[in-house]
Amino acid sequence: MPARRKTPPIPKIAPDLAVAFGARLRAWYRRNHRDLPWRKTRDPYRVLISELMLQQTQVSRVLDFYARFLETFPTIQHLADAKPKRVMESWEGLGYYARARNLHKLAKHVTREGADGTLPSDPAELRKLPGIGAYTAGAVASFAYEKRAALVDTNVARVLSRVFAPKLNPKRPADLKRIWAIAEQTLPRTGAAVWTQNQALMELGALVCTARVKRCGACPLRRTCKSAE
Ligand code: ADE
Repeated sequence: MPARRKTPPIPKIAPDLAVAFGARLRAWYRRNHRDLPWRKTRDPYRVLISELMLQQTQVSRVLDFYARFLETFPTIQHLADAKPKRVMESWEGLGYYARARNLHKLAKHVTREGADGTLPSDPAELRKLPGIGAYTAGAVASFAYEKRAALVDTNVARVLSRVFAPKLNPKRPADLKRIWAIAEQTLPRTGAAVWTQNQALMELGALVCTARVKRCGACPLRRTCKSAE
Protein backbone atom coordinates (compact mmCIF):
# COMPACT_ATOMS: atom_id res chain seq x y z
CA MET A 1 0.00 0.00 0.00
CA PRO A 2 1.41 3.43 -0.84
CA ALA A 3 2.37 5.54 2.16
CA ARG A 4 -0.16 8.22 2.96
CA ARG A 5 1.16 11.67 2.28
CA LYS A 6 1.53 13.52 5.56
CA THR A 7 1.90 17.02 4.15
CA PRO A 8 -0.60 18.10 1.50
CA PRO A 9 0.89 19.07 -1.85
CA ILE A 10 1.72 22.73 -2.25
CA PRO A 11 -0.01 24.21 -5.31
CA LYS A 12 2.56 25.12 -7.96
CA ILE A 13 1.99 28.41 -9.74
CA ALA A 14 3.57 28.63 -13.20
CA PRO A 15 6.06 31.53 -13.27
CA ASP A 16 4.46 33.20 -16.31
CA LEU A 17 1.07 33.07 -14.58
CA ALA A 18 2.57 34.65 -11.46
CA VAL A 19 4.11 37.41 -13.57
CA ALA A 20 0.85 38.17 -15.43
CA PHE A 21 -1.10 38.14 -12.17
CA GLY A 22 1.29 40.55 -10.46
CA ALA A 23 1.55 42.94 -13.40
CA ARG A 24 -2.24 43.25 -13.73
CA LEU A 25 -2.74 43.60 -10.00
CA ARG A 26 -0.13 46.32 -9.58
CA ALA A 27 -1.35 48.24 -12.64
CA TRP A 28 -4.86 48.17 -11.19
CA TYR A 29 -3.58 49.37 -7.81
CA ARG A 30 -1.80 52.36 -9.32
CA ARG A 31 -5.10 53.57 -10.78
CA ASN A 32 -7.52 52.59 -8.06
CA HIS A 33 -5.99 52.67 -4.60
CA ARG A 34 -7.28 54.74 -1.75
CA ASP A 35 -5.05 57.47 -0.43
CA LEU A 36 -4.34 56.20 3.09
CA PRO A 37 -1.83 57.78 5.48
CA TRP A 38 0.10 54.57 6.22
CA ARG A 39 0.78 54.19 2.52
CA LYS A 40 2.79 57.42 2.53
CA THR A 41 5.30 56.36 5.15
CA ARG A 42 8.07 53.79 5.39
CA ASP A 43 8.58 54.44 9.12
CA PRO A 44 8.48 50.94 10.66
CA TYR A 45 6.82 52.23 13.84
CA ARG A 46 4.01 53.93 11.89
CA VAL A 47 3.56 50.91 9.66
CA LEU A 48 3.36 48.67 12.70
CA ILE A 49 0.76 50.87 14.43
CA SER A 50 -1.42 50.94 11.30
CA GLU A 51 -1.23 47.21 10.73
CA LEU A 52 -2.06 46.37 14.35
CA MET A 53 -5.01 48.76 14.29
CA LEU A 54 -6.25 47.41 10.96
CA GLN A 55 -6.50 43.89 12.31
CA GLN A 56 -10.20 43.44 13.04
CA THR A 57 -10.98 47.15 12.72
CA GLN A 58 -12.20 48.83 9.56
CA VAL A 59 -10.21 51.44 7.71
CA SER A 60 -12.62 54.34 8.29
CA ARG A 61 -12.45 53.80 12.02
CA VAL A 62 -8.68 53.32 12.09
CA LEU A 63 -8.04 56.64 10.31
CA ASP A 64 -9.01 58.70 13.38
CA PHE A 65 -7.34 56.47 15.90
CA TYR A 66 -4.11 56.25 13.91
CA ALA A 67 -3.66 60.03 13.69
CA ARG A 68 -4.50 60.57 17.33
CA PHE A 69 -2.31 57.74 18.57
CA LEU A 70 0.70 59.08 16.67
CA GLU A 71 0.14 62.58 18.01
CA THR A 72 0.19 61.16 21.52
CA PHE A 73 3.10 58.77 20.90
CA PRO A 74 5.09 60.11 17.93
CA THR A 75 7.94 57.62 18.30
CA ILE A 76 8.45 54.16 19.70
CA GLN A 77 10.46 55.74 22.52
CA HIS A 78 7.48 57.93 23.52
CA LEU A 79 5.35 54.81 23.58
CA ALA A 80 7.89 52.84 25.61
CA ASP A 81 8.10 55.64 28.19
CA ALA A 82 4.33 56.02 28.57
CA LYS A 83 2.28 54.78 31.49
CA PRO A 84 0.28 51.63 30.61
CA LYS A 85 -2.92 53.49 31.48
CA ARG A 86 -2.28 56.16 28.82
CA VAL A 87 -1.57 53.51 26.18
CA MET A 88 -4.78 51.69 26.98
CA GLU A 89 -6.75 54.97 26.91
CA SER A 90 -5.40 55.72 23.42
CA TRP A 91 -6.57 52.29 22.28
CA GLU A 92 -10.02 52.80 23.82
CA GLY A 93 -12.65 52.13 21.16
CA LEU A 94 -10.50 49.90 18.99
CA GLY A 95 -11.12 46.78 21.02
CA TYR A 96 -8.87 43.73 21.26
CA TYR A 97 -6.86 45.31 24.05
CA ALA A 98 -4.26 42.55 24.02
CA ARG A 99 -2.94 44.27 20.90
CA ALA A 100 -2.24 47.45 22.87
CA ARG A 101 -0.67 45.61 25.79
CA ASN A 102 1.60 43.65 23.45
CA LEU A 103 2.48 46.78 21.52
CA HIS A 104 3.56 48.52 24.72
CA LYS A 105 5.64 45.47 25.68
CA LEU A 106 7.19 45.47 22.22
CA ALA A 107 8.11 49.16 22.47
CA LYS A 108 9.79 48.59 25.84
CA HIS A 109 11.62 45.57 24.45
CA VAL A 110 13.13 47.25 21.40
CA THR A 111 14.14 50.34 23.41
CA ARG A 112 15.54 48.42 26.38
CA GLU A 113 19.10 49.11 27.56
CA GLY A 114 21.53 47.90 24.94
CA ALA A 115 18.94 47.63 22.14
CA ASP A 116 19.03 50.12 19.28
CA GLY A 117 15.36 51.13 19.35
CA THR A 118 14.58 49.92 15.84
CA LEU A 119 12.26 47.22 14.60
CA PRO A 120 13.94 44.36 12.75
CA SER A 121 13.36 44.00 9.01
CA ASP A 122 13.50 40.21 8.84
CA PRO A 123 10.08 38.53 9.22
CA ALA A 124 11.54 35.73 11.37
CA GLU A 125 13.02 38.31 13.77
CA LEU A 126 9.82 40.36 13.80
CA ARG A 127 7.84 37.28 14.75
CA LYS A 128 9.81 36.93 17.96
CA LEU A 129 8.33 40.21 19.24
CA PRO A 130 5.21 40.31 21.45
CA GLY A 131 1.97 40.29 19.47
CA ILE A 132 3.62 39.93 16.04
CA GLY A 133 2.23 37.04 14.02
CA ALA A 134 3.05 35.90 10.50
CA TYR A 135 0.82 38.52 8.87
CA THR A 136 2.16 41.52 10.83
CA ALA A 137 5.75 40.35 10.32
CA GLY A 138 5.22 40.22 6.55
CA ALA A 139 3.46 43.59 6.59
CA VAL A 140 6.23 45.41 8.49
CA ALA A 141 8.99 43.73 6.43
CA SER A 142 7.38 44.58 3.09
CA PHE A 143 5.63 47.90 3.85
CA ALA A 144 8.37 49.51 5.96
CA TYR A 145 11.54 47.92 4.61
CA GLU A 146 10.38 46.87 1.14
CA LYS A 147 11.62 43.33 1.81
CA ARG A 148 10.54 40.49 -0.44
CA ALA A 149 8.15 39.16 2.21
CA ALA A 150 4.77 37.57 1.66
CA LEU A 151 1.74 38.49 3.74
CA VAL A 152 -1.57 36.73 4.12
CA ASP A 153 -4.52 37.94 6.16
CA THR A 154 -8.20 37.05 5.71
CA ASN A 155 -8.61 39.36 2.70
CA VAL A 156 -5.45 38.22 0.95
CA ALA A 157 -6.26 34.56 1.62
CA ARG A 158 -9.66 35.03 -0.01
CA VAL A 159 -8.21 36.72 -3.10
CA LEU A 160 -5.39 34.21 -3.60
CA SER A 161 -7.57 31.16 -3.05
CA ARG A 162 -10.25 32.45 -5.42
CA VAL A 163 -7.72 33.25 -8.12
CA PHE A 164 -5.45 30.20 -7.91
CA ALA A 165 -7.01 27.46 -5.81
CA PRO A 166 -10.78 27.77 -5.19
CA LYS A 167 -10.92 24.39 -3.46
CA LEU A 168 -8.74 25.58 -0.62
CA ASN A 169 -10.49 26.71 2.53
CA PRO A 170 -8.58 29.52 4.27
CA LYS A 171 -10.18 28.50 7.57
CA ARG A 172 -8.33 25.14 7.46
CA PRO A 173 -4.80 25.51 8.80
CA ALA A 174 -3.37 23.02 6.23
CA ASP A 175 -4.97 25.01 3.42
CA LEU A 176 -3.86 28.32 4.85
CA LYS A 177 -0.30 27.00 4.65
CA ARG A 178 -0.81 26.30 0.97
CA ILE A 179 -2.16 29.83 0.48
CA TRP A 180 1.01 31.23 2.06
CA ALA A 181 2.96 29.11 -0.42
CA ILE A 182 0.96 30.68 -3.26
CA ALA A 183 1.72 34.15 -1.86
CA GLU A 184 5.45 33.30 -1.78
CA GLN A 185 5.41 32.01 -5.35
CA THR A 186 3.66 35.09 -6.70
CA LEU A 187 6.00 37.65 -5.07
CA PRO A 188 7.55 39.92 -7.68
CA ARG A 189 11.31 40.24 -8.00
CA THR A 190 11.99 43.63 -6.46
CA GLY A 191 11.14 44.94 -3.01
CA ALA A 192 9.43 48.01 -4.44
CA ALA A 193 7.12 45.83 -6.54
CA VAL A 194 6.44 43.63 -3.48
CA TRP A 195 5.36 46.74 -1.55
CA THR A 196 2.87 47.63 -4.29
CA GLN A 197 1.65 44.09 -4.83
CA ASN A 198 1.00 43.45 -1.13
CA GLN A 199 -0.92 46.72 -0.82
CA ALA A 200 -2.78 45.81 -4.02
CA LEU A 201 -3.82 42.41 -2.67
CA MET A 202 -5.30 44.09 0.39
CA GLU A 203 -6.98 46.75 -1.71
CA LEU A 204 -8.51 44.30 -4.18
CA GLY A 205 -9.83 42.24 -1.25
CA ALA A 206 -11.34 45.39 0.29
CA LEU A 207 -12.82 46.97 -2.85
CA VAL A 208 -13.46 44.32 -5.51
CA CYS A 209 -13.05 40.73 -4.34
CA THR A 210 -14.89 41.12 -1.06
CA ALA A 211 -16.25 38.45 1.26
CA ARG A 212 -19.78 39.62 0.49
CA VAL A 213 -19.57 40.11 -3.30
CA LYS A 214 -17.25 39.25 -6.13
CA ARG A 215 -17.20 42.25 -8.48
CA CYS A 216 -15.65 40.23 -11.29
CA GLY A 217 -16.71 42.79 -13.89
CA ALA A 218 -14.42 45.34 -12.23
CA CYS A 219 -11.57 42.93 -11.50
CA PRO A 220 -8.18 43.17 -13.22
CA LEU A 221 -7.60 39.46 -12.59
CA ARG A 222 -10.70 38.01 -14.21
CA ARG A 223 -8.73 36.54 -17.11
CA THR A 224 -6.31 34.82 -14.70
CA CYS A 225 -8.87 33.84 -12.08
CA LYS A 226 -10.24 30.36 -11.44
CA SER A 227 -13.37 31.76 -9.74
CA ALA A 228 -14.28 34.49 -12.24
CA GLU A 229 -17.98 34.72 -13.00
N1 ADE B 1 -5.63 46.28 6.18
C1 ADE B 1 -4.49 45.79 6.67
N2 ADE B 1 -3.42 46.41 6.16
C2 ADE B 1 -3.90 47.33 5.31
C3 ADE B 1 -3.31 48.31 4.48
N3 ADE B 1 -1.98 48.45 4.45
N4 ADE B 1 -4.13 49.07 3.75
C4 ADE B 1 -5.45 48.91 3.82
N5 ADE B 1 -6.06 48.03 4.57
C5 ADE B 1 -5.31 47.24 5.32
